[in-house]
Amino acid sequence: MLQEKIQQYTKEIEAFNPKSADDAEAFRLKFLVTKGIVRNLFEAFKTVPAEEKRVLGKVLNEFKQLAESRYAAFQEQFSSASSASKHAQYDLTLPGEGFAVGSRHPLSLVRKEIVEIFKKLGFTVAEGPEIEDDWHNFTALNFPPEHPARDMQDTFFIKKQEGNDIALRTHTSSVQVRMMENGTPPFRSIMPGRVYRNEAISARAHCFFHQVEGLYIDEGVSFSDLKQTLYYFVQELFGADTQVRFRPSYFPFTEPSAEMDISCTICKGKGCQLCKQTGWVEILGCGMVDPNVLENCGIDSTKYSGFAFGMGIERITNLKYEIKDLRLFSENDVRFLSQFDTELI
Ligand code: DAH
Repeated sequence: MLQEKIQQYTKEIEAFNPKSADDAEAFRLKFLVTKGIVRNLFEAFKTVPAEEKRVLGKVLNEFKQLAESRYAAFQEQFSSASSASKHAQYDLTLPGEGFAVGSRHPLSLVRKEIVEIFKKLGFTVAEGPEIEDDWHNFTALNFPPEHPARDMQDTFFIKKQEGNDIALRTHTSSVQVRMMENGTPPFRSIMPGRVYRNEAISARAHCFFHQVEGLYIDEGVSFSDLKQTLYYFVQELFGADTQVRFRPSYFPFTEPSAEMDISCTICKGKGCQLCKQTGWVEILGCGMVDPNVLENCGIDSTKYSGFAFGMGIERITNLKYEIKDLRLFSENDVRFLSQFDTELI
């Protein structure tokens, strides 16, 4: 009798297919609580004759385990279903959380702009080492040994050696020398790069900064070519209404030499703090390459002539973005850096 009952309930449990947590709970109430079927069967088992107990006890225990394991499985099923329904509260079509994309450094942005403008005029880009010898940084550029012109740039020396000290380059003009020594004219290149000077760090000076050097050597190149090239450059970079003026100057490696000013981009020439009320700001040095420099680099100065120029990228960037403190460029403060164009290519 008891065995039949157990078989019947076993079938019932095996066929039981709950559709919800409520169905699973009904199963528990029917089979597993104190007054449920499993307990009742155990009560009934007490009255079974002793000789049947061994066999029936095993069957009953198996039945109990079946009921319990089934219930455990139902619980699992509906608890994960309920957490799935919790997830349904989220809108999975919303865009994911973005991650911060970096931006180009303002100096890189401006360098790129400068390079692009000169590329349109057929200038290629050349580079040279930041650790230079005396010859490339000074002597070949017509700075005689012990000449006071060397003091125009405070130099970080790395190694003093008789006649050819090793130093951090003080300007990119050294790349001109390397280019002329290693090639044959015509040359039409710009040379962007980092340069170093032993100066106290302040809002207006730093111990390193960036320059773009330019060199154009061919037969019959004149000062008017220099003027037109730089005039085009300024108009492309700062706009067509920008004025240009040249002032006579001195560099050992150019003759004649000039400094070029542009009309102040902030006040448009009216006078402001940036241009010190003059309406003009200096942006570069330039001149016709001194024949001595051409000869030092193995170029026939009776056949070839050319111009060169050099500008500081920081200065141009300050003008374009009205940055008043040079130190910002190398402090790596994202509050500063993230204000610039996020274009990454
Ligand atoms: N090398 C100069 C400097 O660092 C800049 C310069 C002036 C470069 C005139 C030139 C030039 O090529 O022709 O101050």
